[in-house]
Amino acid sequence: MLLHLLCLASASLTLARQSEFSQEIKTLTGSERLITTDSAVPTVSLPEDESSIFVSGTASIPDLSTTSNATASITSTSTKESLTQIVGGTRTTGASGNMTTSSTTTSATPTNTQPCNNYPEFCSRRYSNITEVCAHNSPFVRKNNAASNQAIGVTQQLNDGIRMLQGQTHMVNGTLHYCHTSCDLLDAGTVEDYLREVTDWLDHHPFDVITILFGNGDYAQTDANGKPLVTAVDFVAPIEKSGLKRYIYQPPKTHMKLDDWPTLSELIFLNKRVVTLIDYNFDHEAVPWLLWEFYNMWETPFSPTGNSFPCDLGRPEGLSREDQEELLYMANHNLNVEISIADMHLLVPNYVQLNQTNGVNGTGSLGEMVQTCTARYARPPNFLLVDFYNEGPFNGSVFAVAAEANNVTYDRKCCGTASDAAQVSATHLSLVIAIAVCLVLF
Ligand SMILES: *[C@@H]1O[C@H](CO)[C@@H](O)[C@H](O)[C@H]1NC(C)=O
Ligand SMILES: *[C@@H]1O[C@H](CO)[C@@H](O)[C@H](O)[C@H]1NC(C)=O
Ligand SMILES: *[C@@H]1O[C@H](CO)[C@@H](O)[C@H](O)[C@H]1NC(C)=O
Ligand SMILES: *[C@@H]1O[C@H](CO)[C@@H](O)[C@H](O)[C@H]1NC(C)=O
Ligand SMILES: *[C@@H]1O[C@H](CO)[C@@H](O)[C@H](O)[C@H]1NC(C)=O
Ligand SMILES: *[C@@H]1O[C@H](CO)[C@@H](O)[C@H](O)[C@H]1NC(C)=O
Ligand SMILES: *[C@@H]1O[C@H](CO)[C@@H](O)[C@H](O)[C@H]1NC(C)=O
Ligand SMILES: *[C@@H]1O[C@H](CO)[C@@H](O)[C@H](O)[C@H]1NC(C)=O
Repeated sequence: MLLHLLCLASASLTLARQSEFSQEIKTLTGSERLITTDSAVPTVSLPEDESSIFVSGTASIPDLSTTSNATASITSTSTKESLTQIVGGTRTTGASGNMTTSSTTTSATPTNTQPCNNYPEFCSRRYSNITEVCAHNSPFVRKNNAASNQAIGVTQQLNDGIRMLQGQTHMVNGTLHYCHTSCDLLDAGTVEDYLREVTDWLDHHPFDVITILFGNGDYAQTDANGKPLVTAVDFVAPIEKSGLKRYIYQPPKTHMKLDDWPTLSELIFLNKRVVTLIDYNFDHEAVPWLLWEFYNMWETPFSPTGNSFPCDLGRPEGLSREDQEELLYMANHNLNVEISIADMHLLVPNYVQLNQTNGVNGTGSLGEMVQTCTARYARPPNFLLVDFYNEGPFNGSVFAVAAEANNVTYDRKCCGTASDAAQVSATHLSLVIAIAVCLVLF
């Protein structure tokens, strides 16, 4: 164990040294298999509107300006007063509901003081018109493991203001786990357990809307007939068993354009406060609520090892500029350093440059990227994907960048400490690999 700790301490020093001489970092060569957290670039042709619309009546969004039993039943929680405020005078309550009835005919519109996703201003804004910080590989919280992407566990991530949770999954013995590249390197446990923790947080935060992006790490595996082994269908069991299912929003279309998305308050009234996306092997027939990421969102280039962070289209390929302008988009802003173990190449977060990467201004900063992208597309990215969101030139710097993009003021406390993270002991093999990392770097 002592060797392990010593080794990792020196490994992180070596990573530090490497990044100062970034030109020495090996660049990717096409022929070698690059082990990375992300995957291939799909080409997408977006569906026609008609074919992407569900005819099922259950997907419709209720008109919040009218009385409805559905909304009244949500208000029977302890939060009823705030709910009255969140849409102000535009809403009345049903006689069968439990709320104090407010009349639409009275003149004064109350000012909303209830924050939605931490800001009262967001309640009336569309889901598609808000910039949120995304925890890249949110479950990969492991001390002294170079494959970690975050220092703080998911409950505290959400408390601190993270509203998109991304993570790579792998099937282990028929059960989906969150694992980084390989479950031998970093196994953060089952998807079900992770989602149960998220569900528990949602139970206690009725005014928050989150997005979960599943990275299907086994997307390329096929059976003897060439059929994919792991698809959206495999995510149903952990999502249902964790309790998350009841919060998942079923959009009216599988291909949602910016103007199709409801406001946060609509999602909050429905109590459908989770949007789920999968990067590969979606199955809209079987699992219509697990949306294909690339029908609904595009990304800038992923897993960069250089700090130029271009706002170009990364995934999916083949999207027209017109389509780009109609979809959500995510700025990938995690800086990596490539290490080699035997013939494997591994991308790990560039920890030492985090103050620059997660900064609000200057070369390679998140703030700079948001400005560049906003200028180019006339609106900021919807999601800012970062590693170690708690690190930066000052506490909460990544949230300050998002707040600026949202035209609100960031004045929250940040961030939880690393001790809030779930402590799970490293597996034997990850120990071995960690040592291998040291040996290679020395
Ligand atoms: C509202 O609920 C009451 C009692 O459960 C029911 O009788 C009524 O039909 C419902 N109204 C609507 C519009 O669903
Ligand atoms: C109102 O709330 C109380 C306590 O929460 C409950 O006992 C009662 O049945 C509710 N009434 C209606 C009409 O929902
Ligand atoms: C986005 O929200 C801002 C702030 O409320 C508002 O000014 C703007 O019109 C909204 N844009 C769209 C496209 O809804
Ligand atoms: C998978 O199953 C095999 C055989 O039952 C077992 O030896 C192995 O430990 C399991 N792996 C994991 C990660 O649970
Ligand atoms: C850059 O941000 C820092 C805070 O991290 C601030 O003190 C400084 O004034 C900013 N510089 C410029 C040029 O905006
Ligand atoms: C970032 O800067 C802060 C404040 O100067 C410092 O305390 C912290 O150690 C730095 N973090 C890293 C990863 O260099
Ligand atoms: C930004 O917010 C201020 C008030 O805080 C408002 O006056 C201004 O119009 C907003 N700008 C945009 C682009 O929404
Ligand atoms: C910044 O956050 C750390 C914990 O992550 C905390 O110990 C420290 O007091 C915070 N600093 C400020 C100025 O809030």
